[in-house]
This record gives sequence, structure tokens and C-alpha cells, in this order.
Amino acid sequence: MKVPETIAIIMDGNGRWAKAKGLPRTAGHKQGADTIRTVALHANARGVKKLILYAFSTENWKRPQDEVSFLCKLPGLFFNRFIKELMVNNIRVTFAGELERFPEDTQNVILKAVDQTSANTGLELCIAINYGARREIVKGILHYAEDVVSQSRKNDLTEEEFSRYLMIPEEVDLLIRTSGELRISNFLLWQIAYAELIFTPVAWPDFNEEELDRCIEEFAKRDRRFGGLTS
Ligand code: FPP
Repeated sequence: MKVPETIAIIMDGNGRWAKAKGLPRTAGHKQGADTIRTVALHANARGVKKLILYAFSTENWKRPQDEVSFLCKLPGLFFNRFIKELMVNNIRVTFAGELERFPEDTQNVILKAVDQTSANTGLELCIAINYGARREIVKGILHYAEDVVSQSRKNDLTEEEFSRYLMIPEEVDLLIRTSGELRISNFLLWQIAYAELIFTPVAWPDFNEEELDRCIEEFAKRDRRFGGLTS
């Protein structure tokens, strides 16, 4: 079966999942972090090369302070529990986004996980954190402009070359959004130009191996033409 090389997921529905169970929203985020473990291990086993997860957007700072504080603590809780398992499974952690805005301890746990797993050769688990696609594109343009001004580059650029100025240079093959909303929410606007899109009603805390397999099967059935006539 044709397995997507790069999968991106908008992990939505944690709050609604918790509310439906009479739990605080943070309980949904905690369960959602466990789903990250399940899905990363399974994507790795299926031979996916890169899994990009939308953990915190540039707009999420607008949430109530206690929820933001909890979300800042989650990477620490997550890596404390699962870093050994990520190592055993040869998974490499990376991140995309402007880490500087997070408390120092949050930055440090993420950088430590990136460093610890940097020699692993299996799945790349990329956490998009304080990430926004428009910001990513603006930063890419600024970086390119600096290179032109310093004359380390000529004033012309292919699409492929521009990709390398982004936080995430890869094309996304499959984009999944959980929990029923039909939006992209400022995630990976450049990289999803030809991605297959799957919107599932399943809330992120309930997403699991079977759901991922279902998405991969659906992807394999799609006829990707990239603007041409037949694949
Ligand atoms: C969307 O659900 C989810 C988020 C904004 C946070 C996602 C974060 C995690 C799952 C954990 C991150 C952990 C690590 C290790 C980086 P929502 O709160 O918008 O749900 P709702 O739409 O039902 O309110």
C-alpha cells in the first residue's frame, strides 16, 4: 500500500472531548498527549518519514491563562514519560515555531528531546509549537531578503529554493484534521499545496492506530495528479 511520506495533523477536539465527559479541558489535552505517543509509534511502524503535529498555534495565546500554562507544561510531562520509548523506537524529535515566547523550562525540555533523539533515523516527529503558517512565510521572506542584501544570493528564487527558507521544507502528502471542523487554521499553507485532505469527526483523544490506518488506506485510494491528467 502507498504510505504517505509526510503526514500533518491538526489535533482538534481535546476540549470538547473533555467537556462531554464532564472533565476540565486540560484533561482533554492530557489525553491528547497520550494520543501523540500512540500515533507517533504507529506512524513509525507504518514507515511514515515525517509526522507534523499542530500542538500550539500563534493564536493559542488568546486562550485563558490557566489553559495556556497547562499547555506549556505538557511537553515536559510528555517527554518525561515517553522519551525512553521514543529512543527505543528510533524516533527523532524536531520542532517548528518560535520557541522563544515559551517559559524557559518549556523551551529546555523541547530542546533536550531534540538533542537526545538527534541521531535517530526512524520517524521524524515534528512538533509545531507557537507555529503559524503566515508567520513562517513572512520569516522565510525576511531571511531570503537578508541573503540578497548580503549578496550571498541572487535576486531570483525557485519555489523549491524558497521551501528551504521555511521552518518545514517538505511537501505534505496527507493532512488530517480531527473533530469535525473543516478549516486549515493557519497550518502549513505553503506545504499543503497538493496534500490530500482528510477531515474526521473523531476527537483527537480518541484517535488511535485504527483511525490512522483508515486515513492511510483512504490516502492510498486517492488518485494524485498534481495538476496533470493521470498519476
Ligand atoms: C485543540 O483542541 C488542541 C490544542 C490546541 C492543543 C493540542 C496539544 C496537545 C494534544 C498536546 C501537546 C503536547 C506535546 C507533547 C507537544 P481544542 O482545545 O481546540 O479542542 P476544542 O476545539 O474541542 O475546544
